Amino acid sequence: MINNMKIVVIGGSGLIGTKLVNNLRQQGHEVVAASPSSGVNTLTGDGLAEALAGAQVVVDVANSPSWEDKAVLEFFETSGRNLLTAEAAAGVGHHIALSVVGTDRLLASGYFRAKMAQENLIKSSPVPYTIVRATQFFEFVGGIAQSATEGATVRLPSALMQPIVSDDVAAALADVAIAEPLNDTVELAGPEPIRMDEFVRRFLEANGDSRKVITDAHALYYGIKVNDQSLTPGDHPRLGPTRFEDWLSHSTPQR
Ligand SMILES: NC(=O)c1ccc[n+]([C@@H]2O[C@H](COP(=O)([O-])OP(=O)(O)OC[C@H]3O[C@@H](n4cnc5c(N)ncnc54)[C@H](OP(=O)(O)O)[C@@H]3O)[C@@H](O)[C@H]2O)c1
Repeated sequence: MINNMKIVVIGGSGLIGTKLVNNLRQQGHEVVAASPSSGVNTLTGDGLAEALAGAQVVVDVANSPSWEDKAVLEFFETSGRNLLTAEAAAGVGHHIALSVVGTDRLLASGYFRAKMAQENLIKSSPVPYTIVRATQFFEFVGGIAQSATEGATVRLPSALMQPIVSDDVAAALADVAIAEPLNDTVELAGPEPIRMDEFVRRFLEANGDSRKVITDAHALYYGIKVNDQSLTPGDHPRLGPTRFEDWLSHSTPQR
């Protein structure tokens, strides 16, 4: 392991990116937090060559501002191409990308078709890589509730999940960033399985939110059908230690 590498975090101002940048800086690395707000845009290529000059490692934790089918595919395809081309030119030795557990099982969704395209570009590029597929972040639970809300009710299936807190995702990505490329995909999940309806119900209760979660086997998850295998990891995921109950008690108003 090298002590002071130059590491570029694409999406360095986002939820995961901010935590990853801090984590790597604390370990003594030279870290560039790259995003449009700091003049680096992977979609247009602006600022990319300058940011990547002399970098050994790039971690891509950017996300598309729009999740509309065409826009999100365009974002991950064009950004992925621009980024990998710039990395090859700069001699970057390790590309790490954050993807989602089950991406290949969720292709009925435009968002996951775009994540699959991102992964495929990485696999066919000459730049050595590690793809980290994480499960849903605890912080995403409010978004799931919102997406399934009709008036005062939230209609969700009881599909199994194994969500993880963002701090544990950032810590795992920091470890991967300073290790050798695996040229493979690894999975990352939280410590415990939980059903989707229950995940959202507990979150709403802890927040004093009066919306009622209705368990409905036919309800969709962001427009697609999911079952107990869709969102859960395979046999040997890396596990983040933080439990949902502990996160809830620290992140929600105490009543
Ligand atoms: N949500 C989940 O539960 C979950 C689960 C597993 C994996 N993931 C993956 O985790 C990744 C990060 O998610 P997040 O929630 O941390 O994202 P986020 O908070 O929405 O942050 C997105 C980041 O992308 C940057 N960005 C947007 N457009 C860009 C562009 N054209 N060029 C360069 N950077 C750009 C943003 O920069 P500005 O601030 O400058 O706009 C921001 O830093 C995503 O790829 C997602 O697929 C998410």
